Parts: sequence; C-alpha cells; structure tokens
Amino acid sequence: MGTETNAWLRYAPLDASSVKKYARLPSHFEALENSLVADSARKELIQGISRMLGRSLQPGSGREDVFILGTLPEVHKLIPELKLPNLEADGYWLKAAQIRRRNFFVIAGVNDRGMLYGVFALLSKIAREQEVLHIDELEQPYGPLRWINQWDNLNGRIERGYGGPSIFFADGKVRDDLTRAGQYARLLASLGINGCTINNVNADPRVFRSDFIPQIKRIADVFRPWGVQVSLSADLSAPKALGDLDTFDPLDPKVAEWWKKKVDEIYGEIPDFGGFTVKADSEGQPGPSTYGRTQADAANLIARALKPHGGVVFYRAFVYNHHLDWRNLKNDRAKAAYDNFHPLDGQFDDNVIIQIKNGPIDFQVREPASPLFAGLHHTNEAIELQITQEYTGQQRQLCFLVPMWKEALDFDMRLDDQHTPVKALVAGRVFHRPTGGFAGVANVGMDLSWLGNSLAMANLYGFGRLAWNPDLSAESIIEEWTRLTFGNDPQVVQTIDDMQLRSWHIYENYTGPLGVGTLTNITGNHYDPAPESAERNGWGQWIRADHEGIGMDRTIATGTGFIGQYPPAVQKIYEPLSSCPDELLLFFHHVPYTYVLHSGKTVIQHFYDSHFEGAEQAAQLAEQWKNLHGRIDQGRYSEILAMLEYQAGEAIVWRDAICNWIYQLSGIADQKGRVGVQARQ
Ligand code: GCU
Repeated sequence: MGTETNAWLRYAPLDASSVKKYARLPSHFEALENSLVADSARKELIQGISRMLGRSLQPGSGREDVFILGTLPEVHKLIPELKLPNLEADGYWLKAAQIRRRNFFVIAGVNDRGMLYGVFALLSKIAREQEVLHIDELEQPYGPLRWINQWDNLNGRIERGYGGPSIFFADGKVRDDLTRAGQYARLLASLGINGCTINNVNADPRVFRSDFIPQIKRIADVFRPWGVQVSLSADLSAPKALGDLDTFDPLDPKVAEWWKKKVDEIYGEIPDFGGFTVKADSEGQPGPSTYGRTQADAANLIARALKPHGGVVFYRAFVYNHHLDWRNLKNDRAKAAYDNFHPLDGQFDDNVIIQIKNGPIDFQVREPASPLFAGLHHTNEAIELQITQEYTGQQRQLCFLVPMWKEALDFDMRLDDQHTPVKALVAGRVFHRPTGGFAGVANVGMDLSWLGNSLAMANLYGFGRLAWNPDLSAESIIEEWTRLTFGNDPQVVQTIDDMQLRSWHIYENYTGPLGVGTLTNITGNHYDPAPESAERNGWGQWIRADHEGIGMDRTIATGTGFIGQYPPAVQKIYEPLSSCPDELLLFFHHVPYTYVLHSGKTVIQHFYDSHFEGAEQAAQLAEQWKNLHGRIDQGRYSEILAMLEYQAGEAIVWRDAICNWIYQLSGIADQKGRVGVQARQ
C-alpha cells in the first residue's frame, strides 16, 4: 500500500501565499563543516527549500544574507558576535540574527549530526508553515541513545514485520541494492535516531562470519551520511555455533578472547559501529544460564570487547521461562524481568544498557509500566517500545501508539516518594547514569509505505519524536506528522489527528479492555481473537478466566506478589481494589464478573459495552475518512479507506468472538440484550 517512500519528508510545494511568507529567507548558504553528515545536511537544506519554496539556494560569496551551516565553534569563528549556547551532543541551535547589516540564519550543531538535525527541524517548520524568520531555538535530545531495532532475518523475512521483506537482507546475504536502507537512514535521522540494529534479536550467528562482516560494512556505509550507527543483534553462543570453540561460557578466557578479536575485526571494517543488542536465555535463545553464569557475566563479556572502541551493549531484560507451570497460582511471567535483573543491579559495566519492554509481559494493548524501571539504581537502562503493531492490529488496523507510550514514559514510580517518571529513569537522569535511552522495534520492510500502511508511519514518527523529547504531547506529535504527511488543509489535519488520537482506545475497546491483555491468539498469529490460547500453557500470558471470575491476582496479599516489585507508593495504588484504576483492574486482580468498577458498571457489562462501542467507533473511523474525499490524493485516500473498512469488519469479528466467549464462561447475559439470553423480566 502507498507510494510514499519519503513519508514525512515529502517537502510538498507550498501554495503561493505561504511561499511569500518565507520570501525573506536567505537565498545563499555557507557550509562551514566538511564531513559526510555535513554534506547530507547541506543537500537536504537545498533540496527542501527548492521543493517547498521553489528557490534554489546558491553558495554565498561572503556578502549576502545566508544560511550558515556549521558546528558551534565554526559558527563562533565566523560570527564572534554571537554568544554561543551550551548544548549537549546532537543538540542544535537555530538562530536568525542581523549582524554587520547582514542577515544570518544559523543552523549550528554541537556536532555534525546536530547540524543535520537542525536542518530537518527547520524544514519541518517550513512544511508546517510555522514562523521561522525570527527564530532562536535550542534543542537537545532528552537522552543519549535513540535506537531502532529491526527484527530482520538473513533470508529476508522479518519477524513480526508487516511491511514486506527486509530492506537489508535477501537469500542469506546483504542485498545488492541498498537504496531503501539509505532512504530509511534519512527518515531516522530526521527524527534524531542515532543507531539501528539491523538483524533479528533471535539472532543468526552467521552475521559474525568473516565473509559477512564486509557485507554489514556496506549497510554502515549507506547509514553513515545520516549519522546512524549500525549495530548487530548478537547470539551469545556464536563462538561455539560458528564452530570456532567448543564453549561459549562467558567466564572462559578463550571466549573473551574470541569476542575481543571478533569485535576488533568488526571495527576494522566499520569504525563507527554502534554495538550489540542481546536477547539471551529467552524463548529458546542461548544464554549464560547454560554455564550457570549470570546475565551480568554475559553482558560484561561483550561490553569489555566493545569498550575500547566506544561501543555499547543493549542487553534485553526480556528473559523469562516460557515453560511455566500454569497450575501454580503463584507463578507469574510478569515478575521475570525484575526477578532476573534487580539482584544484578550494580554488576553491569558502564557501557551496558538494560533494555526493558514498556510493560512486564509483551506489548499488550495495555500493560502497567514495568517495575524494573524503578528497580535499577546503579545500572543504565533503556525503554523498548514496539512500533510494529504485533499485538495491536499488525498495521491492518489503525492504532496510534503514542498515547500508550506516553502513559508508560510519564508513569511516576514515586521512588522515595519523589516524582520519578519512567522517562527520567531511562534517560539516566535520576541516578546520573552515563548513558541510557530509547529503543523502538520498527520492522519496516520493502513496501513503499515502509510499514505496510501509511497511517501506521505515525507510530515510527511518534517513537522518534518521543525518543528526542518525551515531554511532547501526543496531540502535538500527531499534528506535526499529519501536516508533514498530508499537508496543512485544516479539515484534513483535524480529521486525521482525531482518528489517530482515538484509535488506541478503540482498538482496546473491541479487543482486551480492563488490562486483561489483548486476548489474541498468542500461540499463533497474535492477530485474531483467541482468548483461550493464553490459558493453560507455559507462556504465562494467563487471563485466569473461569465460570466465577476473571483476571490475574498479582497482589501481595493473596496473589503472585508482582505488585511488591513496585516502590511502596505505587503498590498503594495497585494493591487495594479501591484504588486500582479500572483500565488495569484485570492485570492486577482476579474478580467476579459481577464486580462493580469505579465507573459503576459490572466487569461483565463493561466487556459487552466496550466491545459494542469499539466496533461502532471502528465503523465511524471509515465514515470520518470519507469526509476527506477530494482533499487528499486519490491513491492514499482509497488505500486507507479500504483498510478502515476492513478494520470495521474485523472489529465486529472481535466483538462477537469476545462477547460470546465471556458469555459462555460467565453465563451472564448482556443487560442490553445483545449477547446471551435476556435475563430481565
Ligand atoms: C515477542 C514476539 C517474538 C519476539 C519477542 C522478543 O514474544 O512475539 O517474535 O522474538 O517478543 O521481543 O524477543
């Protein structure tokens, strides 16, 4: 679907009156910095201005009004009158100033990457018809590391990817034509993303073969002009799996030597290599437990090989036993990340970052924030968010995830009863960590719209914007994205913003409300309704629904004790039924179907009502979209309409499946007579 590889970087021509607004922008430029990234910045500026304003910028001769592109020290040399701001790495300064009767439009970065980000920021403002002529704006990223993960396999397929085959790999090799990889790096750079792990976390050790590393280098070469560092998912058993050693014991000196040599070899080819993402001891992946070693032993082993080169390890906290005994009511997969990593706090080297999924289970339509965010005080952390909509409609249904991510990032862990939002913890601000940040699982593919549906690109855009500044509101992020993607027609902007902002709740309404989990087929496609698939197996995504009641009892008093992993002030919210918010009730408590929510409804009636409401809302989305007929290009109009009409049908499938399932279990009919036998006299 879609023909828009440029996504939000379309630089569509502005109409004549808007072009006039920018008539006083300089028509010349001076580029002070010389590097690959600086070249990209210069070319992007020229291209953006030319496409949007129809003007071709010329190199300056020292007299004209100019755009100045440079790093802060270079700008200072040229214009000593300007007092330079203090900025951190990757930050930028946009400053319009009249000095010595010349107009300077300064785009200055702390480094060349910051300068590139400054160019993208300026072009975004012009595309959205913002005022820039008197600009004086400083921006710097909230946290140092802003990475994308791609779950691409070497055969070209992507795990949980819904946008076609890999842009990196085909038939066991790196693709010959890496045009799309370069275009992707440009999109990522426009958001301030500075690293990308290109292969599946269920990693293939062959990426470490000596004949494969030069292929990875080719990807690094197309990323480099955009300041995006390439990195790899690492299989910890690689020294053995590749046949070099008979062990991968992290404490064996031969293994340490293997990693050191391998990492040196990689940096020999790719001097700006970023590091590794690691999934160990999880869902069948090898890990240190094979040798009775800890996750810290494994993380530090490879961190030490990377350290001399400045590389980092994102070590995933997604470590759990997927053969849990479901009969034991004290067992709880949600506890695994904290149980595995909290005891190791302080044992990780300073170039290890523990990458923690936003919730304690697995990207469900709603989960509480993982307690592990508050459980590491002497260890770097990052939040892992899932852009690819694995459990939220797989890009065939609209589900804008930024409002959900905001809830996780803004969640207050109340450490020592102080305001401690998750975003500050992951950025390393609370415990003054050397690094930390954000990882987004994107899984774009060869589809021209990258994710398989152009509306879903708001999630990639939104992830990048939040990774740069998690204080931005969902409203402002979607407003930016819609204007950049569909233009500035107020009706278009208002309609699409509204649809996107409501879409997560709509999806939640007709799938799994009250924190019960998505209720999808968890042993199969993660897409269709199949609540029973979660029960009575080792995966631990249990709902614990029976004839009497529903929900996981995770209380300290009578349940699994999961709530005890949170700081005391948070425990006080979730442990008592009286204060647990309705939307997470069934995540934390097992209650009878007749339990009355804060809203005044019973749990069972909430299920019926939310599913019928959700299906109606999904149908309205398609109707809302129809109001845009003739206001956006026909291609995107029809593709998206088809998707929304399909979604309206799927919502009915979900509604009926879940309502019938819960009626069968509970035997309690819908008060409004839509499900089951009407019991009312
Ligand atoms: C989910 C997903 C897997 C993935 C895993 C992970 O369980 O379904 O495909 O490998 O998450 O995050 O490692």
